[in-house]
Amino acid sequence: MKKHWWLIAVVLIFALALPVAANQAIKIYVDGKEMKTDVAPQVIDGRTLVPLRAIAEYLGSNVDYDANSNTVTIETQSGLDVVTAISSEWATAGHANVSRPLSYAGIRAGCAPCHSGNMLQKALTDEPYNPKFESVDGKYAFDTNDVEMPTPIDCATCHSGIGAEMIATGIMPGEFNVVNPGEDWNVGDANALCYTCHNGRRNPEAIYNSWVTEGATRQRSYPHHAVGALVTGKGGMEYPGATYVTQGFHKDGCVGCHMPETDGYVSHKFGGADMSRCTTCHPNKLTEVQAGLEERLATLESLLLAAVPDAARIGTGNSDFPFVDANGTLIDINTLPVEVLVGAYNYVIGKQELDTFGKGAHNTKYLYSLLDESIKRLQ
Ligand code: HEC
Ligand code: HEC
Ligand code: HEC
Ligand code: HEC
Ligand code: HEC
Repeated sequence: MKKHWWLIAVVLIFALALPVAANQAIKIYVDGKEMKTDVAPQVIDGRTLVPLRAIAEYLGSNVDYDANSNTVTIETQSGLDVVTAISSEWATAGHANVSRPLSYAGIRAGCAPCHSGNMLQKALTDEPYNPKFESVDGKYAFDTNDVEMPTPIDCATCHSGIGAEMIATGIMPGEFNVVNPGEDWNVGDANALCYTCHNGRRNPEAIYNSWVTEGATRQRSYPHHAVGALVTGKGGMEYPGATYVTQGFHKDGCVGCHMPETDGYVSHKFGGADMSRCTTCHPNKLTEVQAGLEERLATLESLLLAAVPDAARIGTGNSDFPFVDANGTLIDINTLPVEVLVGAYNYVIGKQELDTFGKGAHNTKYLYSLLDESIKRLQ
């Protein structure tokens, strides 16, 4: 845990002027409890001197002494203050939002590990969440008395069990790895936890193979909110043998940008990123990359729509990916060239990034190269 030090005073010893009999041992009571200290309080020249460090630390503050400047610093935030501050931040975080995840995605077995808290925890146990649905009056439901209900994502999701393990080791278990399924992923830091749920849900290589090899049974899968797929530089749809570039910086990743340590502790607001930090390294980078992103998306969009007869627009979600006609009817993907499908897949990643997520902040270099490769193959 990193600390925020509040410089308080240049005092070594806390002095209290109290009349005490010189030969009597001085006792210190804090909240009615006697406190034992390494250095006994003493009376010198009629003043009682008590050890400041012991008392401050007992009260939950941290004390540091710098001999060069002869300065004592005291951290006034106690662990409890930090937890209280974090809890009130989390209460307002979109991340803690319970309505959509729990009413829809969170109650389905395939969705629950990422859309609820307890089911991520249970995912690698002998009893992962797997409720049986039954049709009641035409609506699918399950007996809520029979199953443990999914809970919102909360402190325990990330700070106990598998979540805490990933933060501590930086290793994502292979079961969560959608890029190389089954392979443990040594991310090296706490971002392993974020990649678990935010990595786009798909294995683009498997989808590509299905598009190349399957005839009339191609898999129709859109990239599922693929922020992590960009940040890691591993979740776009790549042509075998083609070269893709990725960013070499921003190593502090999701946690560095979205959980900045601005008030002395790791922020848990999970809103946007702390934009004031960006300018310390490079001003206006976002405006710079957005123009290039908009231009590439527009070019790719017109190439794609020109290549698909009847296509009115590119669909970005489950119901309309990859193309719909003017009536909103899905166009059969089994008749389309693979280049068009790959283009649409990467277009959706880029469109979501520009319109909904990072506005270009999430590894634009990689996104540019995904889009450029598709543009090249469609021209
Ligand atoms: C690998 C993890 C993962 C799995 C599995 C997963 N999702 Fe998601 N999903 C996410 C993440 C992360 C987001 C949030 C992205 C954001 O908004 O920041 C999301 C967002 C969504 C959204 C949009 C949320 C909103 O409030 O707008 C819907 C809808 C959704 N998922 C449905 C599903 C359904 C249905 C399933 C199962 C069939 C599913 N998801 C499985 C990770 C996953
Ligand atoms: C258990 C899966 C899970 C894990 C682990 C996880 N997320 Fe999320 N995250 C989600 C889902 C689901 C949403 C979408 C919630 C919604 O709006 O419906 C989300 C939303 C977000 C949002 C958007 C919040 C908003 O206000 O719209 C940010 C930012 C975010 N996550 C960052 C992170 C970071 C950083 C980490 C790693 C410390 C992380 N997430 C770990 C599942 C997860
Ligand atoms: C989505 C995952 C996630 C959730 C949910 C979450 N945390 Fe954290 N928390 C983290 C990460 C990541 C860190 C940084 C750990 C690191 O980098 O070593 C962190 C750090 C902390 C720290 C250390 C702060 C510091 O400055 O050192 C505390 C305390 C903490 N969290 C408490 C909480 C509490 C209380 C809740 C619930 C209200 C909570 N967290 C919810 C991911 C999460
Ligand atoms: C270089 C810094 C940076 C990194 C690294 C980064 N993000 Fe972001 N992210 C941003 C910026 C900037 C935005 C734009 C939103 C804003 O702050 O206005 C954003 C937006 C988002 C959003 C949408 C937030 C919202 O309010 O709708 C999500 C979700 C998100 N990021 C998740 C992640 C995840 C998960 C990771 C790691 C896989 C990650 N980000 C890594 C900077 C970053
Ligand atoms: C500690 C320094 C540092 C901070 C802080 C930082 N960046 Fe960067 N950023 C870099 C470096 C170094 C590069 C790579 C060099 C280049 O491409 O110009 C880079 C590249 C980028 C790029 C170019 C494309 C890419 O993805 O590689 C974007 C966009 C970007 N940063 C956005 C942001 C945003 C948004 C923030 C704040 C949330 C931010 N950066 C904070 C150092 C930083």
